[in-house]
Amino acid sequence: MACSLARIVLLSLCCLMSTTVMASEPADAERQAAKAAYRRPETIPFPLDDPYTAAKATLGEQLFFDPLLSGSGTRSCATCHNPGLSWGDGLPRAIGENQVALPLRAPTLLNVAWIEVLGWDGKFRNLESVAFGPLLSPGNMNTSETQLVERLSAIPGYASQFATAFPDDGITRRTTEQALATYERTIVSAPAPFDRWIEGDEAAIDETAKRGFDLFRTKAGCAECHRGWSFTEGSFYDIGTAEDADIGRGRIFTNSPMLMHAFKVPTLRDVARRAPYLHDGSVATLAQMIDLYDSGGIDRPSRSELIKPLGLTDEEKTALLAFLATLTSDPTPVPTPILPR
Ligand code: HEC
Ligand code: HEC
Repeated sequence: MACSLARIVLLSLCCLMSTTVMASEPADAERQAAKAAYRRPETIPFPLDDPYTAAKATLGEQLFFDPLLSGSGTRSCATCHNPGLSWGDGLPRAIGENQVALPLRAPTLLNVAWIEVLGWDGKFRNLESVAFGPLLSPGNMNTSETQLVERLSAIPGYASQFATAFPDDGITRRTTEQALATYERTIVSAPAPFDRWIEGDEAAIDETAKRGFDLFRTKAGCAECHRGWSFTEGSFYDIGTAEDADIGRGRIFTNSPMLMHAFKVPTLRDVARRAPYLHDGSVATLAQMIDLYDSGGIDRPSRSELIKPLGLTDEEKTALLAFLATLTSDPTPVPTPILPR
């Protein structure tokens, strides 16, 4: 009874909404239609060869926050992918064990479950294959597979959890990768004012931000690359940013001129909290990011044809900024796990 009542209420809400759409101007109808592409997904995709289990995710969470995973025992994955900084580190370039800056900025891990190939240049074929990159790199966490397995095996709390999560294998490189990847797939951006607007609450964001949403999809062309609810589909482009020696995806596909200086399209979730920007942390503010797109960047053969001078007015830039601000989630503290010792 309660159920069918709820359904009737829902139905009448729908009728009201469509009447509003019919009654408004054509531009407004276009905006309402466009919103459908931005609905948050209801479930997280997990691969068939590494399906979700609670035991794996809980174990992976502890490993992610445990500094024991680094050679010196001082830095964990969370040092650079800090939940308090939207899973980045707030630095232009990440700092490794030896206190030397790495060549790249630490990307956020928000919504990585939806990204197929990882790394700014896409050098990692899946999430499982990322973990031992930072772990083994002397400039990053500087450990070895043997050292890692020995250290984890010496802690009864880890030994028993690995035995439960992976009854056939116990503690190995592969099971460590799977536990970390399973946990990382659960790192999903929390709902933001933008999501409430997409779900029908017209008061959730203001008119300037709504105008910014229109510009993002039309005149400014941002949505051509920053697609869907997480504002990326994980593809690679040269947006004509700073002339640096890093040729990005061009390193991997040496015969593709269009992939020279191409980097992965980052999610724009929580973007207002994640300065500085780009693969090299070279842009300090969102306003500067918009100016960069407005200017069209460096004209070179690899630059995407979608990147060109935009001729945005000051008002349009303000609207784009207001829109980007609505993608920042409500503050949701992430509790750090108790680590086994
Ligand atoms: C010293 C800082 C640092 C530490 C510690 C670190 N990372 Fe990263 N992480 C980075 C940087 C920098 C990149 C970009 C690397 C690249 O693109 O080649 C990155 C990239 C990633 C990515 C790819 C994300 C994407 O969107 O493409 C994942 C996943 C990841 N790290 C997971 C981990 C895990 C798991 C650990 C712990 C085992 C870890 N990181 C430890 C700095 C760090
Ligand atoms: C041709 C594809 C493309 C278009 C069009 C595009 N972007 Fe990007 N965007 C990218 C790529 C690729 C990067 C990362 C480049 C890098 O790291 O060097 C990026 C980075 C960003 C960043 C930095 C995010 C971060 O975490 O570092 C912001 C903000 C951004 N874009 C906003 C916009 C806005 C606003 C527009 C429209 C004015 C837009 N983008 C248009 C591909 C695009």
